[in-house]
Amino acid sequence: MRAIVVTPGTKDSIRLQEVDPPAPASNELLLRVLRVGVCGTDRDIVAGDYGQAPPGAPYLVLGHESLSRVEAAGDEVRGFRPGELVVATVRRGCPENCLNCRSGESDMCLTGHYTEHGIKGLHGFARDLAISDYRFAVKMPESLSEVGVLLEPLTIVEKGVSQSFKVQQSRMAWKPRQALVLGAGPVGLLATALLRLDGMEVSTVATRSEESLKAKLVEETGAKYVNAKKTPIPTLATNWDLVLEATGSTPIALEAENLAGVNGVVCYVGIYRSEVETSNVGVSLTNLVLGNRLFLGSVNANKTYFERGTEDLVRMEQKWPGLLKRMVTKKVPPERFTEAYSPGDEEEIKAVVQFS
Ligand code: BGC
Repeated sequence: MRAIVVTPGTKDSIRLQEVDPPAPASNELLLRVLRVGVCGTDRDIVAGDYGQAPPGAPYLVLGHESLSRVEAAGDEVRGFRPGELVVATVRRGCPENCLNCRSGESDMCLTGHYTEHGIKGLHGFARDLAISDYRFAVKMPESLSEVGVLLEPLTIVEKGVSQSFKVQQSRMAWKPRQALVLGAGPVGLLATALLRLDGMEVSTVATRSEESLKAKLVEETGAKYVNAKKTPIPTLATNWDLVLEATGSTPIALEAENLAGVNGVVCYVGIYRSEVETSNVGVSLTNLVLGNRLFLGSVNANKTYFERGTEDLVRMEQKWPGLLKRMVTKKVPPERFTEAYSPGDEEEIKAVVQFS
């Protein structure tokens, strides 16, 4: 069967390769993969900057954003039937079974020895058949068969937003009204939709024109689109209750520090490179303290966010029919994987590889 693989650490080693079908253990689902999405993490792995093969394996099968159907189930599996639509979560707990992994929060793993499908020590879903422990798989309604592949990127903002609320509401009475989303890639757009679902006033900033698809999708949710080329980020208001940094750009992430209002939160969900030096750390830190501001980092998402995200995808489909589908701007068969893994044109949002 077909698999999209890399040799981790080797730049541009991505290839389509014949591999043996996986043999599910008794607690595992055998999954017929429908689609995998491609994100910045995949591109970092392809560039050789990230990623780790399973122990003893000469390659890593890519793909952590997925949508599949159950093909078969091991003896111990409960609650799943062949044909059902599922999304498998990404991370599995550490061998030490630390406090958080043991509590179902491997996204908060203490040892760092967790594994991640398609990223770190576990093969991913970019193959015709894949496997996942059934306890880490979430069912999707058939109504999401077109857009369920967006669940994994949505879970990243589900967690960031939910943890921002948890922390803020545990330290004060916090009723945020205005949110600023930096970036209108899949994560920024999904964050915009999620915050709009609950009625926040949202402004979303990106560098595309007001006529671009990204701008249109932002506006269809009732959020305001801000073209950063005309309104540079440092000229924006500085009183946002919640700033969600989803560009992954270090200079923008530094600018984001100054945008939260008194008692506001800046939530970071990107992976930032260390190429930028900053000279005004003291100003930012003083601002942080004097305004009771919170800088919060958030990575990965456990099953509860996948469950909540599934409900929110349904709500988004109901509120803005067809909006999510338009975020998937490229769909290619595995044989044309290079088109999905190389950066697309100006209008590209989410590229997916369609296996079946
Ligand atoms: C994935 C997360 C993962 C992170 C770091 C992201 O692209 O969505 O699930 O934890 O990369 O590996």
